Amino acid sequence: MATEKNQTLGEFIIDKQEDFRYSSGELSRLINSLRLAAKVVSHQVNQAGLVDIVGAFGKENVQGEQQQKLDVYANEVFIKTLINREIVCGIASEEEDDFIAIKGKNNGNENKYVVLMDPLDGSSNIDVNVSVGTIFSIYRRVTPVGTPVTKEDFLQKGENQVAAGYIVYGSSTMLIYTTGNGVNGFTLNPAIGTFYLSHPDMKIKEDGKIYSINEGNYMQFPQGVKDYIKYCQEEEGDRPYTSRYIGSLVSDIHRNILKGGIYIYPPSTKAPKGKLRLLYECNPIAFIIEQAGGKASDGYGRIMEIEPTELHQRVPFFCGSKNMVAKAESFMAKYK
Ligand code: AHG
Ligand code: MN
Ligand code: MN
Ligand code: MN
Repeated sequence: MATEKNQTLGEFIIDKQEDFRYSSGELSRLINSLRLAAKVVSHQVNQAGLVDIVGAFGKENVQGEQQQKLDVYANEVFIKTLINREIVCGIASEEEDDFIAIKGKNNGNENKYVVLMDPLDGSSNIDVNVSVGTIFSIYRRVTPVGTPVTKEDFLQKGENQVAAGYIVYGSSTMLIYTTGNGVNGFTLNPAIGTFYLSHPDMKIKEDGKIYSINEGNYMQFPQGVKDYIKYCQEEEGDRPYTSRYIGSLVSDIHRNILKGGIYIYPPSTKAPKGKLRLLYECNPIAFIIEQAGGKASDGYGRIMEIEPTELHQRVPFFCGSKNMVAKAESFMAKYK
């Protein structure tokens, strides 16, 4: 139970300042700005249904998805907050066709970080009052500071991330993030608008008994995935496992970190690369999972070593307890 005796997120960031590889304080300010945006979005999510924030926005996004009002709202809140604080030179978002170059006072190019984000993850759950989330990924730009930001600054391997995190708007609102020195979770006390350290040094068990996958697509899965699902269901040893799938990546991952488990969004005949986006869903979650002692793969190799080629590219995603992901990879390898 996080109480006032627990450290606040603000205090934690200051304490950890020396941990940050670039102790300029800018990364701290960047994470603080995401903290503010998270509180604003959380307030709106918790009123969904009471205010006109549910339902379709009436536009299709670059993904070919019907944007939900909360997709658009969350996207605007995070973008405006990051621009107002003038701490990044560029932003990429699931809800934006292309990246946004930030024109600050000196054209914004003097800033050295870019942010990639999924402003509202699990949109299909908004109207049915099931947990949703936000995912963010932070890189140091690779092109010279002072020059206009380019796509190259966003198309970086996951292993270059300087920080990544997610916010889960669930029974409580939590912000979980890493800067490469472990994973820490903070719970929002909405009465005073303060995040308190509630889950220090989060670790995922090497083995688990939960598997998360949309089995409705079973007939379209590769044989290795079909074999792994059957493996999870066999009556043998500690199996059958429990099937839990919320349809919100952040919520499924958060539960699996706390309890142990594997989340799979595999290739299918209708989506040969799966559904999840590499840059602002798979890479940030992979960074967090690896920092918590887990594994994140595309079924064959490490997610964070994939060389990105486009902003919204999709990759298959096998993520969670190390030994469960390794087992799933062994089934995939049989048919490579
Ligand atoms: P988003 O709402 O940001 O588009 O992401 C939804 C993703 C992920 O959160 C979830 O696990 C998955 O889509 C669910 O997809 P299916 O409904 O195809 O299972
Ligand atoms: Mn979407
Ligand atoms: Mn998403
Ligand atoms: Mn989304």
